[in-house]
Amino acid sequence: MIERVAVIGGGTMGNGIAQVFAMHGASVQLVDVDDAAIARAKGAIDGSLGRLVKKEKMTADEASAVLSRIDGTTDFGATADRQLVVEAVPERLEIKKAVFEKLDAITGQDCILASNTSSISITKIAATTKRADRVIGMHFMNPVPIMKLVEVIRGNDTSDATADFVVKGSEALGKIPVVAQDYPGFVSNRVLMPMINEAIFCLMEGVATREAIDEIMKLGMAHPMGPLTLADFIGLDVCLEILDVLKTGIGDDKYRACPLLRRMVAAGHLGRKTGRGFYEY
Ligand code: CAA
Repeated sequence: MIERVAVIGGGTMGNGIAQVFAMHGASVQLVDVDDAAIARAKGAIDGSLGRLVKKEKMTADEASAVLSRIDGTTDFGATADRQLVVEAVPERLEIKKAVFEKLDAITGQDCILASNTSSISITKIAATTKRADRVIGMHFMNPVPIMKLVEVIRGNDTSDATADFVVKGSEALGKIPVVAQDYPGFVSNRVLMPMINEAIFCLMEGVATREAIDEIMKLGMAHPMGPLTLADFIGLDVCLEILDVLKTGIGDDKYRACPLLRRMVAAGHLGRKTGRGFYEY
């Protein structure tokens, strides 16, 4: 069991990851840039735990015990005694590199450094540290408390011991880890994003309405959400970034982002988080 964890970044993914570790008994240091970000993360965790209490999946006392195991801080020094650090900062290589350089200097030699990146190369991230064998991808899915998968990504030099630690650690969280190699988009987004992109082409070309596209995929393929609803849920900027990583990294035009997706991102209509994407919220 992993007892001491740090999560870097308390956004949608980071706060969910912190919550899941704390729900399974770990002490969590949640590191973010300022107190307002930490307060937002704690508010989101409180809200998610509230849903679980309402559904009688845990008691109010258990929920407050979970919250008490999460310490919010702006001090990277809090990662010094951790066994595992999971990074969940914005999807930009420069930001991730800066975080991993700091973590490499501060954390103990045995500490494993994981990234929740959805498409940035684990090998590139690992190369900024002096411990590439102890760097790995731990890709959780949104909403983290509900989704079973952890896509475990092995970088070029990730050791068997590191992969084993993360696989066992994910199982201890009640998740199902599945291992993939470090190629652009790994498996999840290499398969998911072309489907979402094609749905956006269908909308742009007038093949069907947004509702019809989503209904066809929901009812016909038993997907819980249609692809346009899912794109809004993930964030259209995130979808565009991942498609660009696929196109550049694999070099095949089949990953070219739909011009309508590019236009919506340029307009700032990023999905649920901005109140407007393919749908209005
Ligand atoms: N915290 C706690 N509980 C939550 C929750 C949260 N954040 N979000 C949802 N739930 C719970 C609800 O309380 C509800 O519980 P019960 O089953 O006990 O009633 C359950 O989850 C289902 O929620 P809802 O009834 O509100 O709605 P739903 O049935 O439509 O399910 C959903 C919501 C789980 C999000 C479902 O629509 C779904 O699975 N959607 C697809 C999600 C998906 O594909 N995620 C992957 C995105 S890609 C990604 O994350 C990675 C990337 O790299 C881009």
